[in-house]
Amino acid sequence: MAFPERFLDELIARSDIVDVVGGYVALTKRSGSNLFGLCPFHSEKTPSFSVSPDKQIYHCFGCGKGGGVINFIMEIENLSYPDAVRFLARRANLDVPEDDDASGGRGRRSRMLELNRDAARFFYENLSKPEGRAAVEYINRRGITAAMVRRFGLGAAPDAWNSLTDAMTRKGYTAYELVDAGLAKKNKTGGIYDTFRNRLMFPVIDIRGSVIGFSGRILGDGEPKYLNSPDTLVFSKSRNLFALNLAKRTKQGMLILAEGNIDVVSLHQAGFDCAVASLGTSLTPEQARLMARYTENVVISYDADEAGVKAAKRAIGILESTGINVKVLHVTGAKDPDEFLQKNGPDAFRVLLNQSENSIDYQILAIKSKYDLENDEQRVQFLKEATQMLSGLPNAVEREVYGGRVAAMAGVTPEAVASEVNRAFKRRLAEEKKKRERYEIRPSVTVQPRERSIRYEDVYSAAAEEGVIRLLLADPALLPDDARLCAEDFSSPFLGKVFGLIKSRASAGRQTAIPSLSGELEPEEISRLTEISQKPVSMGNAEQAMSDYIEKIRMQRLKKTAPDDLAAAAELIRRKKGYGG
Ligand code: GTP
Ligand code: MN
Repeated sequence: MAFPERFLDELIARSDIVDVVGGYVALTKRSGSNLFGLCPFHSEKTPSFSVSPDKQIYHCFGCGKGGGVINFIMEIENLSYPDAVRFLARRANLDVPEDDDASGGRGRRSRMLELNRDAARFFYENLSKPEGRAAVEYINRRGITAAMVRRFGLGAAPDAWNSLTDAMTRKGYTAYELVDAGLAKKNKTGGIYDTFRNRLMFPVIDIRGSVIGFSGRILGDGEPKYLNSPDTLVFSKSRNLFALNLAKRTKQGMLILAEGNIDVVSLHQAGFDCAVASLGTSLTPEQARLMARYTENVVISYDADEAGVKAAKRAIGILESTGINVKVLHVTGAKDPDEFLQKNGPDAFRVLLNQSENSIDYQILAIKSKYDLENDEQRVQFLKEATQMLSGLPNAVEREVYGGRVAAMAGVTPEAVASEVNRAFKRRLAEEKKKRERYEIRPSVTVQPRERSIRYEDVYSAAAEEGVIRLLLADPALLPDDARLCAEDFSSPFLGKVFGLIKSRASAGRQTAIPSLSGELEPEEISRLTEISQKPVSMGNAEQAMSDYIEKIRMQRLKKTAPDDLAAAAELIRRKKGYGG
């Protein structure tokens, strides 16, 4: 989806990075011309997140994230590039041009949100009509109060093929719009029918209060138990959480992550207004980052069955990688938090919540429950699996403390466990290092992937390549012509790509500053580019610096392509550099 250049320039000009970032991060420190605050993307105690009003970029010296204002919104609001552009456009009171043309009429996005809201109202109003009787009975059977029905905006999809579609058509929505929003489906004869029939409806509301989709639970037994809206222009299952619109205001200092919508409603009803659930998928990293924006503490309270235990283990890792403190609450004597609350009440749940295990204890117990520790062979298996898990803990004290606990369970010495854990820890470090090197887009590594060690000259030429990019970001007028340097001369594919991009934009008279490149580079690439631009650059002798860099790059390239003929190479460079015509 390409937005017009003029619109993007205007948008970036009207979205000052300090204003936008300031809405999320307290920029309390100043150093030189930069402002600093606590990074919203990783947990830290001292500010390493910088914002440059001059360059209109942000960069975290801790986690390496960085970019322009559009990247910031993509990252912090969990939005795709086009959605981040729309988000900023609303904020800046700019009309988004694409909404007017081929993409389906004016304001497709806002029309879809209006339709969803009208549909939610329709489902809700059905509860006081005969068509909603079955759903009301189901609500009563599950013990859900009228207050919760209102708070969540629950509703009824009648047992009919065209009940919603008729009502919405009367309101002026087209068949196309209904299908586009996932609320209707096409039949073989070209007509449409309701997606949700005979179901208890849960609207999914995003953090800004817009109805973006629906979950519909079957009334009673049957398949599928839940039906969710498909992903649409406004709805992404992996980027939203059910009830976060309510839970984000909690005063409880944590979020409870449950599996089922009904669990969430029950928890809110019992006073735990911090409960959320993922939307029929297992927890995603996007959802974890979304939670991290509102809390440092998450208590996972999944179903008691094997699937729930497995899902909890997965979720622990995903949540912890955002810096969240994770605990796990395991309900006993009930299949899920809802049933537990129905049986035992809020106070009993509060007790469980207070004694919920930290995630490490939880994982040890989960592993232990798989083995019979009286049996020697199984004891060995238990130790193997437990040491493997412990070796994944980044903190040495934790590895030791929990290693001791595992040793006691298995009846072996703490030293034996510690030495196994350490061995596995070192192996893991080595593997991670290898992995990092493979994926790193740092030029010093991508120079010659087949070589085992990186030679001094390679690093040297990579530094020169970065130098060229840094100078161009500071002043695009320094762009060398094709004869002197082209993208293919770069040994780093990434820097070559950036060079090509800046060149093609500059020659078309377009912006080349980082905030304008968000649509053409991946977020990781923008972060890396921002990092490169952070190093000091002296513009006093910029042209000489550019010439020196170019010489280094070309020399290096020729050394590789024609190592036996260095003299000729040097001569070629002298000519290509174009000194004296
Ligand atoms: P109850 O059995 O009524 O207590 O349901 P629940 O709300 O507790 O849900 P459950 O624990 O069975 O499932 C957890 C979550 O998984 C639900 O909230 C849905 O998001 C999802 N889910 C369950 N069944 C289905 C299904 O058939 N299809 C899809 N897409 N998602 C499902
Ligand atoms: Mn359930």
